[in-house]
Amino acid sequence: MNVQVRNAPSTAPRDEATEQFAADVLAGLAQQPKVLLPKYFYDAAGSQLFEEITVLPEYYPTRTELGILDSNAKAIAALIPKDAALIEFGAGSALKAKILLNAAPQIACYIPVDISAEFLAEEASRLTRDIPRVGVHPVAADFTQTFDLPAAARHRPRVGFFPGSTIGNFEPPAAKAVLRHAREILGPDALFIVGADRVKNEDTLRAAYNDAAGVTARFNLNLLVRINRELGGDFDPGAFRHFASYHRKLARIEMHLESRVRQTVRVLGETFEFAAGETLHTESSHKFTIESFTAMAAEAGWATAQVLSDGNDHFSVYVLRQD
Ligand code: AVI
Repeated sequence: MNVQVRNAPSTAPRDEATEQFAADVLAGLAQQPKVLLPKYFYDAAGSQLFEEITVLPEYYPTRTELGILDSNAKAIAALIPKDAALIEFGAGSALKAKILLNAAPQIACYIPVDISAEFLAEEASRLTRDIPRVGVHPVAADFTQTFDLPAAARHRPRVGFFPGSTIGNFEPPAAKAVLRHAREILGPDALFIVGADRVKNEDTLRAAYNDAAGVTARFNLNLLVRINRELGGDFDPGAFRHFASYHRKLARIEMHLESRVRQTVRVLGETFEFAAGETLHTESSHKFTIESFTAMAAEAGWATAQVLSDGNDHFSVYVLRQD
């Protein structure tokens, strides 16, 4: 008997976030070429896999950015006003924020904003244990949408923090919109500290998204597992192959899931045809030169006060002020 309980579409009412996920997935699969939004990678399993990616030998961005923050912590701290609120966009692990919180004891509170509520809660309680003097006020929200800052941030100087080159996962117009949106949330006189990956040797870039241990492949394929679980999809992850390549003209790594065979997939009662070799575009990771990043920031109303980089020019941290 073949009872497909696991993949049956749920009749239970879906919450707002799941409704949005459903709408985005159905719209993306109906597009040509097919596309999914990378923000949906980060369910509990995806967040865990991403943490594993950050320590892979091939994935240089995390350790490089940590190094830049570590060696410039004092200089950054000197720019942060007294009693400031540190607001992190898309927080994930608080490892990078901790460097700033330890270097700048004048920071009164830390507000991590992240779509993954579960992961956020764990990180917040760990941080409270490690640095008890800092008030931690997590906000479970999609930072690209409107959200309310907690009362703790009111009447305080604000410092935005957006590390990890997450800005690179947005298409250029959306990236600009995110920077503009952050400007509205942070208000006048705010500082904004943004980490962004650099254009570099293409072998280094390709290796970072095609690791030998296959963690990035599992991270990519987990999106299909999530669709099956949350939206009653019937994707066979084994019938897709992780694929990442560098697009020089657009200065971005593209991640895709390539269909190994001709197949039909059902999601929420709709059917989608895949030809053998057809790809589902799951993520773009844009890389920047200092010039391309500062120009984008300027168009969003931010002036670049400082650019901090590693010795290999693999990654940069930008300190922005309102223009
Ligand atoms: C979160 N983001 C900046 C990562 C990146 O490098 O674009 C996500 C990632 N995708 C594959 N590996 C890492």
